[in-house]
Amino acid sequence: MKKKILVTGGTGYIGSHTVVELQNSGYEVVIIDNLSNSSADVVDNIEKVSGIRPAFEELDCLDYAGLDALFTKYPGIEAIIHFAASKAVGESVEKPLLYYRNNLVSLINLLDLMPKHGVGGIVFSSSCTVYGQPDVLPVTEKAPIKKAESPYGNTKQINEEIVQDTVASGSPINAILLRYFNPIGAHPTALLGELPNGVPQNLVPYITQTAMGIREKLSVFGDDYNTPDGSCIRDFINVVDLAKAHVIAIDRILNGKQKEKVEIFNVGTGRGLSVLELIHIFEESTGVKLNYQIVSRRAGDIEQVWADPAFANEELGWKAEATIEDTLRSAWAWQLKLRERGIQ
Ligand code: UD1
Repeated sequence: MKKKILVTGGTGYIGSHTVVELQNSGYEVVIIDNLSNSSADVVDNIEKVSGIRPAFEELDCLDYAGLDALFTKYPGIEAIIHFAASKAVGESVEKPLLYYRNNLVSLINLLDLMPKHGVGGIVFSSSCTVYGQPDVLPVTEKAPIKKAESPYGNTKQINEEIVQDTVASGSPINAILLRYFNPIGAHPTALLGELPNGVPQNLVPYITQTAMGIREKLSVFGDDYNTPDGSCIRDFINVVDLAKAHVIAIDRILNGKQKEKVEIFNVGTGRGLSVLELIHIFEESTGVKLNYQIVSRRAGDIEQVWADPAFANEELGWKAEATIEDTLRSAWAWQLKLRERGIQ
């Protein structure tokens, strides 16, 4: 019998890619999503990609009674991958309570209900944002946690602590916290990808929308940083590679391979690329010229961060594989497909 996994936020960007990889690896998936930043037709596209339709329920993780009923309706869920969260850094500064409520209470509800329903494992979406500006690069999991730059970042730090404290209290839960760097790209079929609501905040959707002519010009936020070309440096990780790390984490929990009840892994490539480098690689690998201008720095941006992925490489046997060129081409193919579908 297939092992059943609950994926919260499973119609979202990283969630949808992960559902497909779980299905490809023989797991049965139940998705819940409140559709606040995604749409139900993603379920159709997941089915087109994997050939399997996942169970889907429109449900908000803030709805404790609804979650309780869900676990009763789908008995035998063995683990959860918890993606569902608000994730816009700027919005979190304007609406901190929304972010604290959504991101903290959702996790609390799940952790609270897991023992009651015999769910033993959870993989939590954390972020490299917990490191702030690291003193040493590449950054390892042992680097100190710095004061968060935004309420969003703070929710990731607090959620990591909530998981640690809950497990330390004796709750029968095994957890893996994955600290993502900058996920980009789309599924090679161009059927799944990132579809931001309104004006994109993140770099790559802004690049592809500008290339498409939806946005007039990309603004590069600062070229006066202390980096070789003056623009910020990030570790851009292919979304399918990132999705695969989740499947390995789930296997590890369910097969009792963990060395500690809460484990933390960086999920990045180990390669730092500047914003300007990324723009040029996009232009070269797609053949599309990008209209961009340098503007002033964006408040709250970290100058440079990239992962030391050695621990994940060795312990999980996971490694980022996609090239940056293929990844950017996949993002562009997804943008072209959206146009074809009349979405953007
Ligand atoms: C941020 C968060 C990260 C979070 C992610 C989710 C921090 C430090 N990082 O990533 O934890 O998971 O958002 O949304 O809080 N840029 C431009 N022009 C643009 C857009 C971006 O130059 O139009 C630059 C930014 O200044 C930055 C880089 O591109 O240097 C990447 O930006 P973005 O894609 O927004 O991701 P982060 O800010 O790194």
